[in-house]
Amino acid sequence: MVYREEIKVDRGIDNTFKFLIEGYRYIPNQRRRLDTNMFETRLLGGQKAVCLTGEDGASLFYDNDKFRRADAMPKRVLKTLFGQGGLQTLDDDAHKNRKELFMSLMGSERISDIAQIFKQRWDEALDEWDRMSEVNLYEEANKILTITICEWAGVPLRANEVEERTKDLNALFEAGGAVGLRHWQGRAAREKTEKWAGELIDQVRNGQLDVPEEKALYKMSWHRKLDGELMSTDIAAVELVNILRPTVAVSVYIAFCALALHDHPQEKEKLRDTSNESDFQMFVQEVRRYYPFFPILAARVRHDFVWNGHDFKEDQLVILDLYGTNHHPNLWDKPNEFIPERFEDWNGTPFDFIPQGGGDYYMGHRCPGEWLTIEIMKACLDMMVNHMEYDVPPQDLDFSMNRMPSLPKSRFIMTNVKRK
Ligand code: HEM
Repeated sequence: MVYREEIKVDRGIDNTFKFLIEGYRYIPNQRRRLDTNMFETRLLGGQKAVCLTGEDGASLFYDNDKFRRADAMPKRVLKTLFGQGGLQTLDDDAHKNRKELFMSLMGSERISDIAQIFKQRWDEALDEWDRMSEVNLYEEANKILTITICEWAGVPLRANEVEERTKDLNALFEAGGAVGLRHWQGRAAREKTEKWAGELIDQVRNGQLDVPEEKALYKMSWHRKLDGELMSTDIAAVELVNILRPTVAVSVYIAFCALALHDHPQEKEKLRDTSNESDFQMFVQEVRRYYPFFPILAARVRHDFVWNGHDFKEDQLVILDLYGTNHHPNLWDKPNEFIPERFEDWNGTPFDFIPQGGGDYYMGHRCPGEWLTIEIMKACLDMMVNHMEYDVPPQDLDFSMNRMPSLPKSRFIMTNVKRK
């Protein structure tokens, strides 16, 4: 007989509202209250969902034989954040084929290219910031990253287009966890951005636009599916945006890097004039662990199975807690303190530190942009600590635990910015 145990339940006909109110803390709160790493709830119109948190739960969630991603994501998220028919919604061989395309962009040379482009663009922005009475770092980072990723991906971007493209790419990820106006702005931005991306793909395909072979725009245009056919223009556009949008979203981490430098001056000192790469690496890892960004992921059960005494039923919704796993007391000592040194002798597994998903890059859905993110963040820290001076005037630097993505409320304002 297979061992069974009654699953703990967060009671209620639909806990979606509670989830929106408690935000990143919803699953951690129930984990503490119910004293369990797995519980049942009802979300999104009363659907039963199993929530998993911690390393074992993450390891289960990334078992491709047990879960699928097709039809797991709410439509409102696909119509804003991700786009329809993209990598996030694929399974099995179709996913593997498409994932190889993304991974082919992440060679070490291309990763160091992005850090170089980013630093150059930041350096140019310093001239402008020098003349401004105050600089909104989050807004500026959005612009710098739009310019950087377009250059890196081979996407032409005229100077007079920067403002508009930045606004649209920002609206896509700002809408991901939003309701109301921010959601509708995201929908409009998705339509517009995919149309622009589709036109670029067509121009490459019909020879009007010449792009070097190593660039994302070239690869998205000429990638062949398992049946040997090119992707449709619409899907290729979704995937091109799947490179542009999340890179611009690194601006959220840039705002949090600035906040961490401000709140932990002793940690900032360690990065000063150092060529010790590992100090930067530890700081960046701790920013990605400590600050909230992606709260959860969703999948559906492929076939009935039993795990830890619970019957998972075919098609059931399963939610993985990313934020809570990164703060799980079984995995992290003093999880709610900012301590970069914890990564010094860190012996991680693919399932305990999961700000950008877990598991294997090629076989699963783990974020292919993780190295790009880390390199951009390191470059940002170097610029902020070693190449500029600035003051941080009084402002509201709190960040909300139920706005997704979260951000310092003031977006991090700097004054008296000067190149060093
Ligand atoms: C801003 C920092 C970033 C965060 C917090 C982040 C987070 C995530 C998360 C949580 C996932 C889902 C993993 C899963 O479903 O199991 C993901 C997937 C993905 N990310 Fe990122 N990401 C970031 C940056 C990037 C960058 C820079 C790129 C591309 C250049 C990128 C491209 C993607 C793609 C294409 C997927 C889908 C992967 C798949 O389904 O196989 N992300 N990311």
